[in-house]
Amino acid sequence: MTIIIDTDPGIDDAIAILYALHNRAQNIVALTTVAGNIGLSVTTHNAGRICALANVDTPVHAGAAAPIGKKARPETGIHGNDGLGGVVFPDPLRAPDSQDAVGAMIAILDANPPQTVDLFCLGPLTNLALLLERSPKSAKRIRSIIAMGGAIDEPGNVGPKAEFNIAHDPHAAAAVLAAELPFTLIPLDATRQLRADAAYIKALQDTGRASAIASAALIDAYFAATNGAESRPLHDPCVPLLAQHPELFQIEPRMLDVDLETGALIAGPYHVQVAMGLDADGLRAALLAGLSC
Ligand code: BDR
Ligand code: CA
Repeated sequence: MTIIIDTDPGIDDAIAILYALHNRAQNIVALTTVAGNIGLSVTTHNAGRICALANVDTPVHAGAAAPIGKKARPETGIHGNDGLGGVVFPDPLRAPDSQDAVGAMIAILDANPPQTVDLFCLGPLTNLALLLERSPKSAKRIRSIIAMGGAIDEPGNVGPKAEFNIAHDPHAAAAVLAAELPFTLIPLDATRQLRADAAYIKALQDTGRASAIASAALIDAYFAATNGAESRPLHDPCVPLLAQHPELFQIEPRMLDVDLETGALIAGPYHVQVAMGLDADGLRAALLAGLSC
């Protein structure tokens, strides 16, 4: 699989990226960054730090610093001042690439045969919407998009029905749905089922492997920010896990749109594959194994 990861790291983004970078079946050719959990310069720097921890120098391309047609939401603070919960990461092995995120997406999509490049979206969908605007022909060459975002039956996490990634840039999400690309969405309904508790943190630490130990520290920081919780959801890791283990997810077709006012998903005319459930034990084991190699 040839993959671009579009991301706003972010504690759970970092765990997802580490898993994907260690997975030989997932050839990550670029990380493209977007403002979301924290500002663009920090998400871009963090993407480089995460690659350095995994000892790879995958190119990082900075993307959109602000959502389309709407002011950025205030940062929630849950990912800490540095976006990675204060967990120590090495400095990037290389500076961000001079090519911007959308330019890099276009170059990668046009250089590879059609329907061979997959996109993992771990943050607001701003860069993908800008790609659709700048080069719809290149976007048509994407084989699959897997995105974490939205809430279907579950309550939202930034509003009664609104989830952060969609609500941060609802115009972008609406443009992406309207394009009817091969799009699988993993909403809170599924990601809240994949949880890490203290025993899982210990299992990660016990592996003695750098990426697993860093992931344990990231989850720990996530606990600290949400005092009292016995377990925390691992939202973004669901994306590379679904690409690797589709058999561990329950996926159904839905017809959706985005309410531009609230950022909530609503019934609409656009076809989307939606992961509504998952095998949490199977996926926790797969994540642990992937982070330990
Ligand atoms: C999503 O929002 C961000 O805070 C997380 O990184 C994840 O992508 C969960 O709603
Ligand atoms: Ca994210």
